[in-house]
Parts: sequence; structure tokens; C-alpha cells
Amino acid sequence: MKTIVTGGAGFIGSHLTALLLERGHQVMVVDDFSTGRAENLEAITAAGDLTIAEADIAGPEAARLVDQVRPDVVFLLAAQSTVQVSMRDPVLDAKANVVGLVNMLEAARLAGCRKIVFASSGGTIYGQVAAERLPVAEDHAHAPLSFYGVTKAVASEYLRLYRTEYGLDYAVLALGNVYGPRQRPDSEGGVVATFAHRLLHGLPCRINGDGATTRDYVHVSDVAEAFVAAARSGTGVFNVGTGVETSLLELHRLLTERTGSHLAPEFGPPLRGEVRRIRLDVARSGRQLGWHPSIGIEDGVGSVVDWLRSGSEARRVPDDLEFPARGRRQ
Ligand SMILES: NC(=O)c1ccc[n+]([C@@H]2O[C@H](COP(=O)([O-])OP(=O)(O)OC[C@H]3O[C@@H](n4cnc5c(N)ncnc54)[C@H](O)[C@@H]3O)[C@@H](O)[C@H]2O)c1
Repeated sequence: MKTIVTGGAGFIGSHLTALLLERGHQVMVVDDFSTGRAENLEAITAAGDLTIAEADIAGPEAARLVDQVRPDVVFLLAAQSTVQVSMRDPVLDAKANVVGLVNMLEAARLAGCRKIVFASSGGTIYGQVAAERLPVAEDHAHAPLSFYGVTKAVASEYLRLYRTEYGLDYAVLALGNVYGPRQRPDSEGGVVATFAHRLLHGLPCRINGDGATTRDYVHVSDVAEAFVAAARSGTGVFNVGTGVETSLLELHRLLTERTGSHLAPEFGPPLRGEVRRIRLDVARSGRQLGWHPSIGIEDGVGSVVDWLRSGSEARRVPDDLEFPARGRRQ
């Protein structure tokens, strides 16, 4: 399969790129390196048929690349992916996430692409779901609390209409809070990496709110598998999580155990745009994509701690990060 992965130099995109290459697929990464890093791809550049191109998904160069490659499948992961940035600057957010999306969809349909697999956000598109509707299923109404969530929700409508109008197939993956190796500890949504990094460096973690805020944490290797599965089968929206809710306090406890730290968290006021609880129903992904999560949070946090312990310049973190998110996606 000939593929393009936008955002392939990022956290999730680099894992997806590695998996595609491992399975013998051809990959062109299109990334503007705004949050992505070349070093995320260093270990895999010799691993298969990989080309890396620097371009903005909202610009003509990215469209030209799609035209040149004529991919079977385009994986759309490039995005402004920070909730708080979207609240501060909805125009900037919409340029990447709406104009960039439409630019890629136009290019893909003109290039005769078969399918789009899009990275959406199960933690934001549904908004604050009533407790009795958790775990939330894909047929739940969209009611995002952030502009970032709005862009992810509207993407589903664009994709639906491109399929109706042009027969361009699509799968939207509504991801839970993705964590795992290569997530930047200085990224706003990388709470697992940031907490782990701080605890390993003897620094307290800051929690915004009372710590009861929950997320559905899903390991990045499971997420990469879901993208590959969605390239093969399934049309529409698919939740990609574990169906398990973990509170920030529980996550903090797991990480103190794993790192051997005894530091108590510090607390700050809750943030705008963040849902309080979320847990995704992943039954449809199991049925239609044949995808099931395989790593639970208790084991999964170990992969992050081990990766951070293995050391790298990229694991530097400023002292003032706050959670949940100042931040992004989930
Ligand atoms: N990490 C999560 O928990 C999570 C949860 C839900 C959804 N998502 C979505 O998954 C996708 C990947 O997220 P991630 O965690 O890997 O983030 P990331 O920031 O590591 O990756 C995003 C990549 O896109 C690139 N990019 C950003 N704007 C671009 C543009 N205009 N043109 C070209 N490249 C651009 C960045 O350089 C980066 O490499 C995003 O769409 C995000 O919204 C992530």
C-alpha cells in the first residue's frame, strides 16, 4: 500500500509510520515539524520505503506532494492539537485543523486516493457526557467544549460529505488520551510523560482541579494498530480507547509506584474547555475493525518510565506544566 502520513514526525505519527514500514508499506511523511521531531523517525529511516517531506498541510506544497505520490491511503494526523491554544487562538487552530483538512481532502480525491484515516479526539468531540452514557458510543451527539474539539467534530462532516460526493472512503478514529514512548514531556496533553518525567527528576506534579478528572488512556502501540486496521476495513467513526476510566490521582499513584517517588501532587484551579470524565465504548472498533486494546494503563505506564529512564535531550520539561492538559487532545 502506498501511504502518506501527515504529522508523521509527531508522537503518534512516528509510531504509525514505523508500523506501516514494518508491514511492508510505502510511506511519505508530510510534516511541518512544528511539534514533531526528525529524531522520532531516526530509528526507522533505514527500515523501509520512507520519504520525509517538510510541508504545511494547509499549503500548496502538501497538496502537490499528494498529487505526486498518488497514495492509496492518507493518514491525517497533522493538527494543532492543543485545547488551550484553540481557546486562545481559534483562528490559528482552524487554519491547521479545518483549512489543512480540506486542503488534504481536495488533494486526496483529485489524486484518486482510496481512503482517509483521520485522527479525531474521543475526549473532546462528545463534550461532557452524562454519567449514565459512559462509556460513550460513537452515536452520541457531538457537543465539544473547546474549539479544538469543534474542529475534530466538523472533520467527520467533511469526511462524510467527501464520501457521498466523491466516493472517498474514510475512517475517523476518535482517540482516547494516547500515551507511550516518544510523547514529549513538555507537550501539553502528555500527562503520563510529564508526570513520569517530573517524578523521575524529584519534582512535584501539578493537577488542575481536584484530581478526580478522568481520561481513557490508550497506549500508542495499540493506537498505531488501530490506524492500520482502519486502512483495511470500516467506514465512519470508531472509538479507540480502552473503555477504562483513570483519574489523575490514580494515574499519579501508578506513576509514583513505578518511579519509586513519594512526592505528593500540587493542585491548581480547573481549566477551561476540559471535560471532567470520559470513557470510550470500543465495541464498534472490535466488531468492524477487528481492533482491541491490548495494553492496560498499569502496564503501559511502565513503557513511558522505561523510555524516559533510557535518557534523551528530548525528555526535558519546563517546571510550569499543569494538568489536566493546559492542554490538548485526550
Ligand atoms: N495524543 C493524544 O492523546 C491525542 C488524542 C486525540 C487525538 N489526537 C490527535 O492525533 C494527532 C497526532 O497527535 P500527537 O499526539 O501525535 O501530536 P504531535 O504534536 O506529536 O503530532 C502532530 C504532528 O503534526 C505536525 N503538524 C502540526 N501542524 C501541522 C501542519 N499545519 N502541517 C504539517 N504538519 C503539522 C507536527 O509537527 C507533529 O509532527 C493529532 O491530530 C491530534 O489532534 C491525539
